[in-house]
Amino acid sequence: MSELETLERTLLADIDAAGDEGSIEAVRVNALGKKGSISELLKTLGTMTPEERQTRGAQINALKSTVADAIAARKSALKDQAIAERLARETVDISLPVRSSPAERGRIHPISQIVDEITAIFGDMGFSIAEGPDIETDYYNFTALNFPEGHPAREMHDTFFFNPDEKGERKVLRTHTSPVQIRTMEAQKPPIRIIIPGKTYRQDSDATHSPMFHQVEGLVIDKAANVANMRWVLEEFCKAFFEVDQVTMRFRPSFFPFTEPSFEVDIQCDRSGPIVKFGEGTDWMEILGCGMVHPNVLRAGGLDPDEYQGFAWGMGLDRIAMLKYGMPDLRDFFNADVRWMTHYGFRPLDMPTLFGGLSA
Ligand code: DAH
Repeated sequence: MSELETLERTLLADIDAAGDEGSIEAVRVNALGKKGSISELLKTLGTMTPEERQTRGAQINALKSTVADAIAARKSALKDQAIAERLARETVDISLPVRSSPAERGRIHPISQIVDEITAIFGDMGFSIAEGPDIETDYYNFTALNFPEGHPAREMHDTFFFNPDEKGERKVLRTHTSPVQIRTMEAQKPPIRIIIPGKTYRQDSDATHSPMFHQVEGLVIDKAANVANMRWVLEEFCKAFFEVDQVTMRFRPSFFPFTEPSFEVDIQCDRSGPIVKFGEGTDWMEILGCGMVHPNVLRAGGLDPDEYQGFAWGMGLDRIAMLKYGMPDLRDFFNADVRWMTHYGFRPLDMPTLFGGLSA
């Protein structure tokens, strides 16, 4: 075997044996580097005769390209191997729990959740939302709603009064959301279809009463709105809100100064277990007050009672939240206790919708 063939064998064997990118580089330097074995041979070309150069020169060049090709091939194989090893080593363990973000850990207060649920339901029926101030005049809170001066119904409301102003008028913290009925009639022409969720205030505090609480009022004014329409709207609302297929409701005659006739509405339920179930059972639970808007209230809102009529209702938001989500004490709603919020609060990214589910 010629000396060139021996060199080729040795180099190819070294290339084969190189186990990583470092050792193949060492082989390259040994063969093709400045002082490498093949480079040294190439330097002898200058001292050869033209004939020698044709034969031996060609052999040396052939050796050089064989070795260079072999090194390149081995290098790229080693590179691929290194990548494959790294990929195998660095697999992501998808079974590890993901740490939840602060946005996930926050909670929506049940009152906000209930307002969103109610808005979704009535929004679907074509209602819009109206608002009014928490600090009201005596006129909007009482007089315009047909509470005559000195009428005992004013006393029923346990009102928080402000000190009299320079004209001797005392503002109040609104005792109900009904004053927004008048404000809306003043501001927009019928047909009116609104709900009014908001804060209300009365001097009262125990497990089911808080001095600040929430109501949602409803108002429909049109030329022919009637009790049957009201009944349908309230039944559809209760089915959607309590997420049941069927509800039975009982309309009992009642009295409110701003409606005639007036009703209190009970919903049939089962109270035998630890939580109240709606749509079944033999018990009744009062959930709201309603009625046909009194002609004096329409007049106060600037509407002609011979042309327009309508219905209204009001219910305690906190109360229906307690019923739906089984919370025993109303005062906890406003204690800002993080443990309570973590337990009863709602996930911020689960928006209540009729198609996606209200409280899913
Ligand atoms: N405003 C009443 C209350 O706070 C609730 C109410 C009853 C509102 C009947 C209405 C209604 O609109 O028609 O006790």
